[in-house]
Amino acid sequence: MENRIHVEVIPQETIEEVRLRTDIVEVISEYVSLQRKGKNYWGLCPFHSEKTPSFTVTPEKQMFYCFGCNVGGNIFSFIMKKENWSFVESVRNLARRYGVSLPEKEQSPREREENRLRRRFEEINEWAASYYHDLLLRLPEGEPGRVYFAKRGVDIDTMKSFRLGYAPERWDGLLSYMQERGVQPHELAEAGLAVEKETLGKDGQHHYDRFRNRVLFSILDQRKHPIAFGGRVLDDSIPKYLNSPENAFFNKRHHLYGMHRAHQGIRELGYALLVEGYLDVIALQNAGFPNAVASLGTALTKEQAKLLRRYTSRVVLLYDSDGAGIQAAFRGGEILRDAGIRVDVLTLTGAKDPDEFLKSYGVEKFNQALSKVLTFVEFKYQTLFREQPPRNIPEKAELVIKLAADILKVSSPVEREGYERFLSLELGLTLEAVQREIASYELKKPNNERVQEYFQQKRVSSLKSRDNITNAILCKDNSVPPLPIVYLGVYRAELLLLRLLLEDISYLPKIKAMLGESFWKVPVHQQIFNYLNQDGVLPAHCDETVQSRLASLFLEELDRSQTERLLDDCIKEILSTQAEERVEDLQARMAALEKIGDMAGAMALLKEIGERLKRGE
Ligand code: UTP
Ligand code: MN
Repeated sequence: MENRIHVEVIPQETIEEVRLRTDIVEVISEYVSLQRKGKNYWGLCPFHSEKTPSFTVTPEKQMFYCFGCNVGGNIFSFIMKKENWSFVESVRNLARRYGVSLPEKEQSPREREENRLRRRFEEINEWAASYYHDLLLRLPEGEPGRVYFAKRGVDIDTMKSFRLGYAPERWDGLLSYMQERGVQPHELAEAGLAVEKETLGKDGQHHYDRFRNRVLFSILDQRKHPIAFGGRVLDDSIPKYLNSPENAFFNKRHHLYGMHRAHQGIRELGYALLVEGYLDVIALQNAGFPNAVASLGTALTKEQAKLLRRYTSRVVLLYDSDGAGIQAAFRGGEILRDAGIRVDVLTLTGAKDPDEFLKSYGVEKFNQALSKVLTFVEFKYQTLFREQPPRNIPEKAELVIKLAADILKVSSPVEREGYERFLSLELGLTLEAVQREIASYELKKPNNERVQEYFQQKRVSSLKSRDNITNAILCKDNSVPPLPIVYLGVYRAELLLLRLLLEDISYLPKIKAMLGESFWKVPVHQQIFNYLNQDGVLPAHCDETVQSRLASLFLEELDRSQTERLLDDCIKEILSTQAEERVEDLQARMAALEKIGDMAGAMALLKEIGERLKRGE
């Protein structure tokens, strides 16, 4: 749909007529189960997840509104949001449904021809999808496909909702099916479904089917229309996947696999899960992550990032943990970040991809992993560190420089300083040194050669373009050890607590009751807290570090509808880290006692550790 740019104006009175004829309750009822209470209807909001209804429809005013997420509007805004249609598309759709005729706009002969070709392209793909799908679901020839999908744990409902298919082991299966429907071989070739022979065969045919003996993944657009196919072999032969070539109506840079469901799923969950494989998307969507999508056999593109940005500002990258997957995550992360998307990275261990992970460990474990995502900067730091642990100060500086570009692009100054502090703690450098190093990198912009050079060097070794045979034999490397996990949690929690206090000093008693008065890890935070604790106000004069920290704190945006929850989360984060530290402390003391041979003392400590862990401290 993205390729269709139409500037189309529908007259105001027609729009009004559509609005008046539309029954807002009837239309919304198709998405939300509504219950009448007095003048209004109530239901669970389709735009955020909730357990008690706060979504209302007021037929009298022909409006809807959610008290939970403050989304509201008229029927057009509802449809636009829910279906991701443009305004004009929404009006057209409702007009058709309620029998309002729209003025036909004048078309040039070229436009008419293009529209004709597009409709033909859609029709051909629709037929092809049905052909492959019916084979898979019910025809005897589809048996190998059924066997394959059964082996991969794909059930009938999934086959239907993803319109999976099977292309038989024949050279003219689709060709003859289409010929019966009046589709010429050259049309099939233009749609990418047949291939033209270089020399005329004995059978007198000029074309043969592109997809043979493969299971097929229909690439569906947001209206669930097939626009291309990806075909996987049933065994280990190569190329593993064959994808529809691009043409005037299909550009793989613009589409993501799974988007036919994910455009709603992403809105509902508030973020997108970006994975590598078709089957990963299917497994995740089935496991309760309707927000999973994958690119179409290429590295993530700017266009795909822009597409995602229309639905969310947060993406969790979930790429395979082999070398190629890590490089893809680096590159993809940059593209997403440049599109204004916050990127977190999820690394799964013990499985080669999400599909396998879900099969081996289940959703529960997946959710656990998901709660431990790393920010893009943390992920990159850990990866670089693991590849080449810095042994001395110059190497540490190198490492800081490699992350400089990413840190400089972080828009929130608080978050940015969080990363700088994180690096200083991790590498045992002073914050000032880290900041100087990063600032010196900034001075050298725009020719940020050093980082460029690093990536170019990496890319040569593990370039991830998988459309040709040589690349299809890229092997998986499962020998990569799991990443150590580092949390920025406490630092962030402290910042947020201060931000909350600055917003509303009445949080002070609760914070003191739960955490005391001297729990702050960052000295300047303690200092600010002390001011607030003493007088509830900030002194007119205070030192520079305090001032600059305050300035950055005030810049931090606060979600005002969530302040209570934020407060609780921060307190929890600090308490749990304190508990962990106590256990670590006990462990260190225990090791010391063991060393000097005080086994009884060590056992006593061990017992205490066990009890603390049991209490979940
Ligand atoms: P993978 O090799 O990880 O495949 O490629 P997969 O989809 O997880 O397949 P299984 O689990 O082995 O069945 C990830 C994605 O890269 C593209 C496809 O989109 C695939 O889903 N790809 C891969 C190609 O386009 N061509 C290829 O030859 C290989
Ligand atoms: Mn896979």
